[in-house]
Amino acid sequence: MKAKDKEFYGVFAERLVEVQEFLLAEVQAILDSISTDSETALAEHIKSRIKGSESLCEKLRKKGFDETPESGLTKLSDIIGLRVVTHFVGDIYTVLDLIHKNDNWQVKKVKDYIADSKPNGYRSLHVILSVPFNHEGIETIDAEIQLRTIAMDCWASLEHQLKYKKNIKNTDLIVSELKRCADEMASTDLSMQTIRDLIHKD
Ligand code: GTP
Ligand code: MG
Repeated sequence: MKAKDKEFYGVFAERLVEVQEFLLAEVQAILDSISTDSETALAEHIKSRIKGSESLCEKLRKKGFDETPESGLTKLSDIIGLRVVTHFVGDIYTVLDLIHKNDNWQVKKVKDYIADSKPNGYRSLHVILSVPFNHEGIETIDAEIQLRTIAMDCWASLEHQLKYKKNIKNTDLIVSELKRCADEMASTDLSMQTIRDLIHKD
């Protein structure tokens, strides 16, 4: 955690890092329970982050909440965020099933932007968990796990650059080309899944 974030989160900083590490280890264990062989591994990679204080305060301000760590911890769901990037679409639902079966947390919400993609073409599956915090009077906090394929991840990082870069020319063209790519990638993701199923059919 960066020094300024540590200062902002104060008495919650250490506990946040512990919970982040706990979640990461649990999700890694879920993935390893299916396969530890890199060729058949469920995930290509997994990442986690604690929301930086600037981005947290900006979100709290937009939503009209106090810009304090307590407010963030109790009102927002993504101070701790994990991202699981899989090879195939089916792997996402395999991991989701195992997340549901884990007793270390409660699944509060599943947002399936794969079945129901956003108008810009964004696809991913988001799971909001309620996890034990038990520190300074806060019993539980919410955390977000995003699950997506490598193709969806590549697309989301490019689209994210569009959102944050200023003075871009040809925005309309870029937006429509991004949408086209998202749809083509979704179609390829499905074909790849079908081919894999054919290879592994007994
Ligand atoms: P926030 O967007 O976080 O305020 O909450 P929300 O309730 O609208 O949740 P949503 O499920 O829309 O998004 C949560 C997170 O998913 C975001 O912080 C991004 O990391 C990611 N995300 C959602 N939509 C997009 C998108 O259109 N493009 C990209 N690149 N990422 C997105
Ligand atoms: Mg949003």
